[in-house]
Amino acid sequence: MAKKYNIAVIPGDGIGPEITEAAIEVLEAVCERNNIEIFTKELKAGGIAIDEFGIPLPQETIAAAKESDAVLLGAVGGPKWDNVDPEIRPERAILGLRSGLGLYANIRPAAIYEGLEAASPLKNPGKIDFIIVRELTGGIYFGKNGVYQSGEKLPDGTVKGKIAYDTESYSEGEINRILKIGFEFAMKRRKKLTLVDKANVLVSSRMWRNLARQMSFDYPEVELECLYVDNASMQLISRPSSFDVIVTSNLFGDILSDEAGQIVGSIGMLPSASIGVQGEPGLFEPIHGSAPDLTGQDRANPLAAILSAAMMMRTMFGEEEVAYSIENAVRKTLAAGFRTGDITFVGDNNNVKLVGTKEITKAVIDNL
Ligand code: IPM
Ligand code: MN
Repeated sequence: MAKKYNIAVIPGDGIGPEITEAAIEVLEAVCERNNIEIFTKELKAGGIAIDEFGIPLPQETIAAAKESDAVLLGAVGGPKWDNVDPEIRPERAILGLRSGLGLYANIRPAAIYEGLEAASPLKNPGKIDFIIVRELTGGIYFGKNGVYQSGEKLPDGTVKGKIAYDTESYSEGEINRILKIGFEFAMKRRKKLTLVDKANVLVSSRMWRNLARQMSFDYPEVELECLYVDNASMQLISRPSSFDVIVTSNLFGDILSDEAGQIVGSIGMLPSASIGVQGEPGLFEPIHGSAPDLTGQDRANPLAAILSAAMMMRTMFGEEEVAYSIENAVRKTLAAGFRTGDITFVGDNNNVKLVGTKEITKAVIDNL
């Protein structure tokens, strides 16, 4: 009997629909060969939902996502919604899905694919292969915030006016559960864990550091390195291949994963998996945005979305072979010289063929 998986697809805005379509085509092709049936259900979130329902994350989207086995998301947002009330910005949809589904761990692997070395701005990138484990439902993204009028003055006499604030706060429980995921990944990989924090300034970071040191006694084989985030952003450039697993807070993980996107040549290459409670659906999405400037032109790089689908097969369904087959097809496609615009660079002499979204997707399918 064929295995059956129900996948909620949230294309979103901008290039979201093009790249999720590409990922689904690849999934369907690979699943057919492996006697797996996938059922997809399209859901609305982001700007498209604001246009239709007046809110970025309708109740029925979150309810249907909860009922699915896994969620595949494209991207949300765009200039059209830049001036809407901040409470209903398209980005709220992603944040609402993450918290609504309890997806506290965001896994963002970064590797340079063979043939893409020239796309990295680093002179000698070396073998880069690390993952960022980003806390996803806490910290400053979800802390107490607000704006209020102040009657006070600054010491130099300047009137303060309004005060806007966001709060970074983490509980021991939140920190420990994400640290554990970091240590467990390190055990399965090269046994090195880097904690990124700002413990020289922030009280919450000091808690992260203490708990990480405590937990490292349970993982004597894992080498724990602790870096301040400013230093970490430099070390990622100067010694990228020394990193294996990086564990960090929501905000620092957001920032460092874009840096990782640049290091590996293009953010258009980076997938992600967001997971939480065992047995609940995970959310799989490229880390890039909706790229409004590329929308509808068959120019978007679908590989991050396709690789996110591979992460879904592995993480959610334990379909290691299917995941490997997708990843290997991407490797072969790149090795054969297929490139979208974002990964086409001077100095790349791998017989490069600049192609569009559809053609590179077809090449991946042919290489499955
Ligand atoms: C990401 C994005 C989101 C984030 C935005 C769209 C809310 O930048 O997934 O990295 O900040 O987490
Ligand atoms: Mn980001």
